Amino acid sequence: MKTYSIDHLTPVQKTLLVTLKGRVLDSRSNNPILRDPLVTDIARRLDYDIDTVKLSLGVPEAIAIRTSILDRAVDAFVRTHPDAVVVELGSGLETRMFRLAPPATVDWYDVDLPEVIELRDELMPHRENAHSVGTSLLDPGWTDTIPSDRPTIVVGDGILGFLGEEQNKQVLTRITDHFTGGELVFNAYTKIAARMTGRYTSSVGMPKEFRGFGFNDPHDVVAMNPRLTFVDEQTGAAAPESEQLNGLYRLLARWFARWPAQARRGVWVVRYRF
Ligand SMILES: C[S@@+](CC[C@H](N)C(=O)[O-])C[C@H]1O[C@@H](n2cnc3c(N)ncnc32)[C@H](O)[C@@H]1O
Repeated sequence: MKTYSIDHLTPVQKTLLVTLKGRVLDSRSNNPILRDPLVTDIARRLDYDIDTVKLSLGVPEAIAIRTSILDRAVDAFVRTHPDAVVVELGSGLETRMFRLAPPATVDWYDVDLPEVIELRDELMPHRENAHSVGTSLLDPGWTDTIPSDRPTIVVGDGILGFLGEEQNKQVLTRITDHFTGGELVFNAYTKIAARMTGRYTSSVGMPKEFRGFGFNDPHDVVAMNPRLTFVDEQTGAAAPESEQLNGLYRLLARWFARWPAQARRGVWVVRYRF
């Protein structure tokens, strides 16, 4: 089996290992939330011991739940809009397209930094209508090769938290400047949760003191780009996926679900229309 080195990736690029590890652990569990056999296959083909990526207690479950919430949002969109375009921001080695198997009329664009896209293209099975965009989201030309006139869902898992506030504004503005209409859905961090970003990703080389981007009110994103309309939010604690968790975690989720402000500190997914 050919394996692929990731030594050349920067720490921020290596954060893709954190989400990948969460999904690998989900696939190894007795009652997986995602049921995605491709993730273990991809992890095995990396010249890297994925078990050296340390995840704190509850983090693998949180990653699986937020992935599943985002899957549902994208799935609902492409089933309603068979001519949709899906844009995955900071796609890393995410395998959402393979889990959802959208209709062949849907075009799917994975955007990430060039080194990551190169690795991704080696590891992912070929699929018609899958397109790779190897560029930074901070390059204003990142949308140039993506159709603008079809219903579009832009999805981000774990990416916007790694950009600063001004950079997020820039990305949000580019989305509504380029695409004529659709939805934006991403996992968000509260300000307190964002302070922990460095700690959660230090085992892949991120500085422990790194603080991600966070906000406490979904309308803060509308203030950053008034062309976005807030649609809804979903916390992991209140999500149906939590019912699949083991005893103690399930009870904790039910308890947290009663206090949305607290629940947002865990898994929190927000959705906007434009
Ligand atoms: C935490 S990982 C998440 C990866 C993937 N979304 C997932 O859920 O597995 C963050 C990803 O954002 C990418 N990224 C960071 N800065 C970026 C930028 N400026 N432009 C594009 N991608 C970026 C990294 O390379 C990495 O793949």
